[in-house]
Amino acid sequence: MAKTGFTSPERTDEDRQADQVLRPRTLDEFVGQPRTVKNLRYALVAARERREPPDHVLFSGPPGLGKTTLAQIVAREMGANFHATSGPALERSGDLVGILTKLGEGDVLFIDEIHRLHPAVEEYLYSAMEDYVVDIVLDQGPGARSIRLTLKPFTLVGATTREGLLSPPFRDRFLIRERLDLYPKGDLVKILVRAAGLLKVGLAPDAADHVAACSRGTPRVAQRFLRRLRDVAQVEGGGEITLDLGKHGLDMLGVDARGLEEMDRRIIRALVESGAAPLGLKTLAVRVGEPEDTLEDVYEPYLIQLGYLQRTPRGRLATEKAMREFGGDGAGTRKPKTGTLF
Ligand SMILES: Nc1ncnc2c1ncn2[C@@H]1O[C@H](COP(=O)(O)OP(=O)(O)OP(=O)(O)O)[C@@H](O)[C@H]1O
Ligand SMILES: [Mg+2]
Repeated sequence: MAKTGFTSPERTDEDRQADQVLRPRTLDEFVGQPRTVKNLRYALVAARERREPPDHVLFSGPPGLGKTTLAQIVAREMGANFHATSGPALERSGDLVGILTKLGEGDVLFIDEIHRLHPAVEEYLYSAMEDYVVDIVLDQGPGARSIRLTLKPFTLVGATTREGLLSPPFRDRFLIRERLDLYPKGDLVKILVRAAGLLKVGLAPDAADHVAACSRGTPRVAQRFLRRLRDVAQVEGGGEITLDLGKHGLDMLGVDARGLEEMDRRIIRALVESGAAPLGLKTLAVRVGEPEDTLEDVYEPYLIQLGYLQRTPRGRLATEKAMREFGGDGAGTRKPKTGTLF
C-alpha cells in the first residue's frame, strides 16, 4: 500500500520501536474486542488441556487494530515459539516448505497479509494445515515423483485486511476466524492511559478522551498521536498532555475534532461534489490520488463509521450528514489551522 497521511494506521519504523514497549503481551492486557478475546481464551485453554496446538486462526480487519499483537499473544499464552513471515515474502513454494519443515512441535507460524500469498504457495498450505504434511514434486513430466514430508503439529495464524480475497477452501481451513472492529472511544481511552503510563508521560483524563475521539477507532493511531503530543508537551514545557495541548497538538497535525485528516476531507468533498451520482472506487481513487486498496482498507471504514460515506453496488455516495457538513460553505470544508506553532 502506498504512503498515506499522518493518521495512516500503517506501520512505520518508529512504530516498530514503540511496539516493543506498548504491545500487550497477554490476553489480560489486551484491551477491547471482547468477543475475540473470549473466543481465543476458550480455544487456548482447551488446547492447553488437550496438550495440542490450537486450531489455525485467521484475524481480519483494518490495519492497526491488533492482529499482529494477538498473533504474538497466541504464541506467548501457549508457551510456543513464534515465527513471522508475510504473504508477499513467500514468493516460491520452496520458501514456505523451508519454513514449515523447521517448525517445532506446537510452534506458531504467523503469516501477515495472507491474502497476498501466491496461489501456488497457498496450495501447499492446505495439506500442511489439515494433516501436517507437504508433498513435494520432484522432477517434471512423466517421470515426476513426489515425496511426502511430515511436519510437526503447529498453529498457523493468518492476518488479513481483506478476508474476502481468500479463496473459500483456504479460508475454511482456519477453524478460528475473528474479525476485529474499530475500537469504541472508551477502549481507546484505556489504551491511551496504559500507553501514557508505559511512556511515562502525564495525560489528563479530558485530554485522553479528546485524543481517543480523534483516533479513528485505531489503537495504532491513538498511540502515534500520544507520542507526537508527548513531544509537544516536552517542548512547550510542563511535560503533561492537557486538553488544550492535546487540541492544539492535533490541530498542528491537521487532524480535526472528528479525527479527520486532509485525505478524509478530500474524499468527502469529492463525494459531496458528485452529489447523487455514485462514484466508482477507481474514479474516487484517481480524484483524491490514493490507491484503491488504501481507500478501502484505511479510509473508508472510518468514514462509514462516522456516517459520511455509504457503499452502494454502483459506487460510493456522500451521506446526508456529509452533505450537511461539507456541502456549500459548511463548516466541514474549513481546513484546520496548521503550521503556525513551530
Ligand atoms: N487491544 C489493544 N490494547 C492495547 N494496545 C493495542 C491493542 N491493539 C493494538 N494495540 C497496539 O496498537 C499497535 C498496533 O497493533 P498491531 O501491530 O497488532 O496491529 P495490526 O492489526 O497487526 O496492524 P497491521 O494490519 O497494520 O499489521 C501496537 O503497538 C499495539 O501495541
Ligand atoms: Mg500487523
